Amino acid sequence: MTSSDKLSNRRAFLAFLAASPVLACAGFSSRWVEEVLAAPLPEQDAVVIKSVKEALNIFDFEPAAREKLSPAHYEFITDGSFNNETMLANRAGFSKYEIRLRRLTGITKVDQSIRLFGVNWDSPIFISPIGRMNAYHPDGAMVVARAAKTTRTLQILSGSAIILESPTAMDAVNSARGEPVWVAGLGDTLTPAVVRRIEATGSPVLVWTIDDGGANTIGAKSVQRAGVRDLDRGADERCAGCHGALPQISRIQSSTPMDVLGAVGALMGENSVKLSWDDVKRVRDMTKLKIVLKGIVTREDAALAVQHGIDGVIVSNHGGHEDASGRGTIECLPEVLQGAAGKIPVLIDSGFRSGADVFKALALGATAVGIGRPHIWGLASFGQEGVETVIEILRRELQVMMAQTGAGSIAKIRRDSLVSVG
Ligand SMILES: Cc1cc2nc3c(=O)[nH]c(=O)nc-3n(C[C@H](O)[C@H](O)[C@H](O)COP(=O)(O)O)c2cc1C
Repeated sequence: MTSSDKLSNRRAFLAFLAASPVLACAGFSSRWVEEVLAAPLPEQDAVVIKSVKEALNIFDFEPAAREKLSPAHYEFITDGSFNNETMLANRAGFSKYEIRLRRLTGITKVDQSIRLFGVNWDSPIFISPIGRMNAYHPDGAMVVARAAKTTRTLQILSGSAIILESPTAMDAVNSARGEPVWVAGLGDTLTPAVVRRIEATGSPVLVWTIDDGGANTIGAKSVQRAGVRDLDRGADERCAGCHGALPQISRIQSSTPMDVLGAVGALMGENSVKLSWDDVKRVRDMTKLKIVLKGIVTREDAALAVQHGIDGVIVSNHGGHEDASGRGTIECLPEVLQGAAGKIPVLIDSGFRSGADVFKALALGATAVGIGRPHIWGLASFGQEGVETVIEILRRELQVMMAQTGAGSIAKIRRDSLVSVG
């Protein structure tokens, strides 16, 4: 129901009450009723939550994160590429499927556990890699690792240079997690030396992200172009990887990687677009680690991944951060599953915001579902507790959907619980 629908319903109700003799008998004046009912209904975002206990769903963490983050960092995590075509499509895609609920399913207990590459996980919901975690919390990677440990969640860590070039940073993350996290390497950065470094972290899986290269994320750059400074970060070495270590840095004039690049400078830089399947063969031959390609969105590429000895794929468009295809990942999932033909697990992320979204992907045949921005909202707003609560809310929502469709376990989730619409 839209807010104008709500308003007109309220007006109709108001007119009815004001004319009703029942009110006067009960000692209420019609003016009092008018005042009470004419007050606007608070929308969810009227309150910025001050504690995780107040969260009604995971969207409550976004405004709470916004309060804590600098404008540019908030925009960078929020924004999509071009005009947000793909980011919006990720959300819109879920409305193309509806869930057929069963009644009286008798389910009192739901088992969400999955097994992936021989390891059991408590839930199919995993943490997707986000680069530059320090932008959202001073100890971003560590805090997420602690939350991943307490919730027994699969965490994929973005293998940015800062993390990989510092074995102690990686050790700290792994020890906070209690076991090696999966490391994601980006695009054309997978030289033999980098692959050796990833192997040395103990990561059992090399996630290779191959969908970067189309990013022109306007929001953060608009903030930068307008000359809004966030912090004096010159002295903070954690920021140097992105901002350079200049005191009183002015990104507009400096030549650091986070300079404002107009669209012409931003598009088609060093990235995955120039890679080919020969590179996949090269990296496959370089390591015995399991390799999961992140960013597959078509049947053809899923089939090629299988042919090239890849162990799994993640249907992903970087949360709409790197392309303007206008295709949501939930819409790409069926064809990727066809291409993979049951030979390798198919994971997915981009746009997942509720247990119902997660359920839809599982019912279509995905093995696991990742969350990017939502765990960062939790991280930025309430640290470890925020990440844990985001995960917990999604798990509970998934639990409800499974119980309401008669699925006591992930294996019992049925394709015919979904209807395609439109
Ligand atoms: C600000 C930002 C930074 C990201 N950094 C990385 C990265 O370093 N490596 C990577 O594989 N994916 C990265 N991603 C993509 C995420 O892993 C994930 O695919 C995406 O966030 C999922 O969509 P969602 O945010 O709608 O949940 C990034 C996404 C965003 C929004």
